[in-house]
Amino acid sequence: MTHYSMSLLANFTVISGKASEDLARKIATKLEAKYIKSELRIFPDGESKITLKNKPRGRIIVVHSIYPPVDSNLIRALALVSQAKRYSSQVYVVVPYLGYARQDREFLPGEAITMSLVAKMFKAAGATRIFVVDIHSMMALKHFQIPAKNVTAIQELVKYFKKLNLKDPVVVSPDMGGAQRARNFASLLGVEFIALEKHRDRKSGEVRIKSGNHHEIRGRDIILVDDIISTGNSIVKAAQFLKKQRCGRIYASCTHALLIGDAEERIKKAGVARIISTNTIPGKTGIVDVSPVIAKAIV
Ligand code: R5P
Repeated sequence: MTHYSMSLLANFTVISGKASEDLARKIATKLEAKYIKSELRIFPDGESKITLKNKPRGRIIVVHSIYPPVDSNLIRALALVSQAKRYSSQVYVVVPYLGYARQDREFLPGEAITMSLVAKMFKAAGATRIFVVDIHSMMALKHFQIPAKNVTAIQELVKYFKKLNLKDPVVVSPDMGGAQRARNFASLLGVEFIALEKHRDRKSGEVRIKSGNHHEIRGRDIILVDDIISTGNSIVKAAQFLKKQRCGRIYASCTHALLIGDAEERIKKAGVARIISTNTIPGKTGIVDVSPVIAKAIV
């Protein structure tokens, strides 16, 4: 376990929301910082009540992911930041998974750019710096009017895959938008990569793969790399396409596994042997720990 020099870390308190307790504790340990849990009570009408049981001191680091229920977790994160601000002028916020990052621009006329509103709310609540992990797009990060840093989990995921005994693996991005991510992943792993051509209907959300045949992947193991797996539709379509190319075993790797509804079951049914994700969102696929890269980014 890596710990960081005490002289750099003096006086940090890590505060966690319910959504990120385990990860926050790990970050606090790495930073040798005080750790305080918050209490969450949900009123019958759905309102969240956040209580800090102990007094934080020094610089505060609030850790709170914004995964489903997204709007509730957003308001809980903001409430925690606002409470932290009562104790410190310096409130760092770690949002390991930033919900709304995909709403970073107007895709269809009239759509609200909700990411911009979310960014303004964090500043208004009192955040002075923000850290996110593998944000969906750099455009989303630009909406923040406070120093904002994206931390990548790719090297941590790659470390995990290095330990698996894969057969002549190929890294595959399910779409062109993720090509750079897959290229980085493949280069760290020292293997080849390809990017598929995906089309998503912006109105219905329907996904299809438009790529031609990829004979070069026949018999080879595949690592499908994406930032987010939500409904699983992108991975399902990609896996069905890859199976038709008669590839070897398929692994799906992502930073944020939302796995909405029966996504996991459908992904497995499409031929994916395992899903491996990070602990930005707690769950049984979230086995790769991002606390080392987050702690390093903070100091
Ligand atoms: C899209 O651009 C993203 O990188 C992911 O591919 C997408 O958000 C995954 O969503 P779903 O699992 O619903 O297809």
